[in-house]
Amino acid sequence: MPKSIILKKNGGPEVLELQNVEVGSPGPDEIKVNNHAIGLNYIDTYHRSGLYPIKLPSGIGLEAAGKVDEIGSNVKEFNKGDNIAYASVPLGAYAQQRIIPAKIAVKVPDGISHELAATLMTKGLTTNYLLTKTYKLRAGETVLFHAAAGGVGQIFAQWANSIGAKVIGTVGSDEKIKAAEENGYSHVINYTKSNFAKEVLKITKNSGVPAVFDGVGKNTFLGSLECLSTRGMMISFGNASGPLDPVNVPKDIQPKGLYLTRPSIGQYFTNRKELQAGADQIFEKIKFGKIKIKISKRYKLADAKNAHSDLESRKLIGPAILIP
Ligand SMILES: NC(=O)c1ccc[n+]([C@@H]2O[C@H](COP(=O)([O-])OP(=O)(O)OC[C@H]3O[C@@H](n4cnc5c(N)ncnc54)[C@H](OP(=O)(O)O)[C@@H]3O)[C@@H](O)[C@H]2O)c1
Repeated sequence: MPKSIILKKNGGPEVLELQNVEVGSPGPDEIKVNNHAIGLNYIDTYHRSGLYPIKLPSGIGLEAAGKVDEIGSNVKEFNKGDNIAYASVPLGAYAQQRIIPAKIAVKVPDGISHELAATLMTKGLTTNYLLTKTYKLRAGETVLFHAAAGGVGQIFAQWANSIGAKVIGTVGSDEKIKAAEENGYSHVINYTKSNFAKEVLKITKNSGVPAVFDGVGKNTFLGSLECLSTRGMMISFGNASGPLDPVNVPKDIQPKGLYLTRPSIGQYFTNRKELQAGADQIFEKIKFGKIKIKISKRYKLADAKNAHSDLESRKLIGPAILIP
């Protein structure tokens, strides 16, 4: 019987339990998928811990790539044996086999492996909407991105560089500096050692940056606002250090007339057409060598506990995957 990680209660990594699960047959608009590689994402830890509440018991994981095993009677876009990937609710990607709605899957072209697709979908789609839709990054601009050696961080600077923009990156330890530089960041600041806002103002000769992309959250929010130029945009897209405190608009937003947004993937890819187009843009960047992916670690599905511990203790340098 296929195995899945099932979450019966919220808590630390120890609550991730591997179980045998009866999968059954897909409904009319669904497909059955054999997952070959599963993406590890920071959001998985929010679902596990309860920071983002979910109904329990539940599967966990948003992202995987594999082969279609069976299709529902209404499904026209896919056939048995197609290579597909997905990065969306319903949760349950930490599984050897599962059923998903056909509308969340995209076709993976030849030349893109399952491992690559499972690493790319969430982090690539996030990068895609952040710098082409939330803030339309232009050639010649310099922006700030936090956690530059992380999963999204690895893709973000390469994509920005491919547009002709520069990115200042922050990292949590000296050993991550080299990795961030290799990812394409023009300047890398260790924000556990120095005041990143001061450094950013020094680098930009006090003019600040027009946009900050902040997936760290609680610990970097106020410093990020300091880095912004007049009418700059604060894009808070994650909470690795904890959720944001309430925002003091008159004190923190009003003086520079800043914009503040808190976006999620689902708001930018609202149907299958948008999703496939967004994914194809990422696959193109890979095909033409604009983005290179280095998978930092591969864990067995049964070791998901260790994967979560390593991610939360900031040990991982770059994206990691689970192999079912
Ligand atoms: N809104 C969206 O659409 C969306 C989509 C995907 C991801 N995200 C968010 O994007 C961020 C990056 O995701 P990812 O999966 O690529 O993870 P990741 O960047 O590989 O890992 C998170 C990184 O956050 C940094 N961090 C800073 N303070 C931390 C703390 N107190 N505890 C743990 N980590 C801390 C660490 O890097 P340093 O050690 O270098 O500081 C860590 O490596 C996450 O916040 C995630 O939730 C949002």
